[in-house]
Amino acid sequence: MMVPTSIRDRAEVLRRQLAHHNHRYYVLDDPEIPDAEYDRLLRELQSLEASYPALVTLDSPTQRVGAAPSARFAEVEHRLPMLSLDNARNEEELSAFDQRARKELAVDQVRYVAEPKLDGLAVSLSYEHGALIRGATRGDGHIGEDVTAQLRTIRALPLKLSGTGWPRLLEVRGEVYLPLIAFEQLQAEMKKRGQTPLKNPRNAAAGSLRQLDPAITASRPLEMFCFGFGAVEDGGLGETQSEVLKLFSAWGLPVSPESRVVVGIAEAIAYVREIGERRNTLPYQIDGVVFKVDSLQQQQLLSRQAKKRRYLGGEGRSPAWAIAFKYPPEEVITVVQAIEFQVGRTGAVTPVARLTPVDVAGVTVANATLHNIDEVHRKDVRVGDTVYVRRAGDVIPEVVRVLPERRPAGTKPVQLPTGCPVCGSDVLRAEDEAVARCTGGLFCTAQRKEAIKHFASRRAMDIEGLGDKLVDQLVERALVTDLADLYRLTQEQLRELDRMGEKSAANLLAALDKTRHTSLARFIYALGIREVGETTARALAEQFQDLDELMEAPVSALLCVEGIGPIVAAHIQAFFSQPHNREVIDKLRAPEIGGITWDRPILPKGTDGLEKPGPLSGKRVVITGTLSQPREQIKAQLEALGAKVSSSLSKKTDLLIAGADPGSKLRQAEALGVELIDGDRLAELIDGARR
Ligand code: IVH
Repeated sequence: MMVPTSIRDRAEVLRRQLAHHNHRYYVLDDPEIPDAEYDRLLRELQSLEASYPALVTLDSPTQRVGAAPSARFAEVEHRLPMLSLDNARNEEELSAFDQRARKELAVDQVRYVAEPKLDGLAVSLSYEHGALIRGATRGDGHIGEDVTAQLRTIRALPLKLSGTGWPRLLEVRGEVYLPLIAFEQLQAEMKKRGQTPLKNPRNAAAGSLRQLDPAITASRPLEMFCFGFGAVEDGGLGETQSEVLKLFSAWGLPVSPESRVVVGIAEAIAYVREIGERRNTLPYQIDGVVFKVDSLQQQQLLSRQAKKRRYLGGEGRSPAWAIAFKYPPEEVITVVQAIEFQVGRTGAVTPVARLTPVDVAGVTVANATLHNIDEVHRKDVRVGDTVYVRRAGDVIPEVVRVLPERRPAGTKPVQLPTGCPVCGSDVLRAEDEAVARCTGGLFCTAQRKEAIKHFASRRAMDIEGLGDKLVDQLVERALVTDLADLYRLTQEQLRELDRMGEKSAANLLAALDKTRHTSLARFIYALGIREVGETTARALAEQFQDLDELMEAPVSALLCVEGIGPIVAAHIQAFFSQPHNREVIDKLRAPEIGGITWDRPILPKGTDGLEKPGPLSGKRVVITGTLSQPREQIKAQLEALGAKVSSSLSKKTDLLIAGADPGSKLRQAEALGVELIDGDRLAELIDGARR
């Protein structure tokens, strides 16, 4: 069949692009495009080659696994190639894979081993007579780099297999990775040292392993999961993939604790969904899950059939008996349409990129923060640029970096505005601060709106029904100019607003009424003093017990409060010395306006009249899983007992409170040797302290 010139040219372009990106990824460890973009190019070439088999060349990227290894390390030839995996991007593609396997194996249901697809780098370990004699990276799949000395520093890896019954020669395949906690620590350290922080855990793992000096590798807490085997001589590994993993475990090789047998497509899809939901709580980064046909005999059958079809683009770079389900990429490419500046509660002027909307991990993203002007200049983001955006967990989307090769002509660097985009007041930036601020204070409607939203928020005054849109209207129509005005709103005024009926107006007034009795800590937090978060507000309330005393406190007295340093003390004093702020506070407390009151906080007192330390004084506590009360409530009770509650585990954690379905934190705590208590023991503790 004749191949049209346009198709031939396109295939050539794709081949060149893929070779270039392979080199960036495998040799330079510095990919320019996200994996998803790479996969798209590869798929396009695969489909051209499938339609026009004459296009297939021996050196086509579709026939190879990766690029040549870098010259720095000694070369190691893998006895059997290290293959890659075909991808399924959605449940339909996964079903299609299962359907083909069922048909070719002539069975109703296929048994698979399922496990997460870790985002690290693949290595092959050669054990001879149970001793680790060589370790190598994947390289191009045939020839990798000798990283034996570096791999020996990974503590999870046995230098000698335990137990008995291992084959004389065993090539173990697995993934080396850096746990997220370690990645974040490493990033912070590098930042401190002024080095360019690593892009992601995958790069960090690759960079840590591919260090010519193994001492550097040893200083990085790398981990590994073993998921397969290459050459096996003089001995066997059983009949199924799941048996292989069991043997690995028995020999002391680390295997994923999430690895499981699933039977049939329904169980496979359930596994995909379950891991997808837990994805952000796993202690390492994953980009998908892998399914492997469990029976080794069935694997061979599928491979043989695929080889027969090979001239049609069958088995080559990836086995026919495995598939990787890829979750939607968390980093995607889009275009910056505009860069605007937003004004926050404390006047901080933050650059925000308006983007061509894209789907990031299932959520449409149209805006991404650029943090501050230094960050914009460091990343050199401009209007018209093609950028990567990322959404990690609950974090606000951010621009990761620009693709300079896609920058259109005539773009200009972004400038910090000299006037506030909302109120026109001067925008100033202190010498030692990254943040620029609008000097308009509460004259600036943007700051006013944000101050009110903060005051109304759940952890502050908790005014139910006072949402962002409503606040915007109240400020824009000048119904509310300061916080106290909220308590002067009338049914008539509220009824005039958009989307506000009789009923919701009455509800809002009732909600406002309910907040008239609160706690001193909430009230202090609600004022929105710079750098005074919930914890500091609580510490201030406990120390002073009285708002007037706090308002008069000199800096020296503020510095005695736990967690308050000179900067925060200065912000507190500056806030209370502003006549405008004092006026608002007076109005909020005045019985005819706000009428806000609170009880004096009661502290546990010993018989000598001095404060008694709580049973958990100074203890660092982390909560996980589902407990019988809302987490906020438990947190408050623990803090009343003197505990410091935080959300992440570390070596310094004293206690983990584990409710139902505790997830990965439980394992982490066990690994760190942190003391564990369950919900019942917690209830006893709290009860005991009350008596
Ligand atoms: S199986 C022949 N299982 O993904 C089967 N691979 O795209 C080859 N990976 O090179 C791989 N976790 O680096 C397999 N549980 C897992 C994996 C996994 C991560 C990586 C591995 C491989 C790449 C394939």
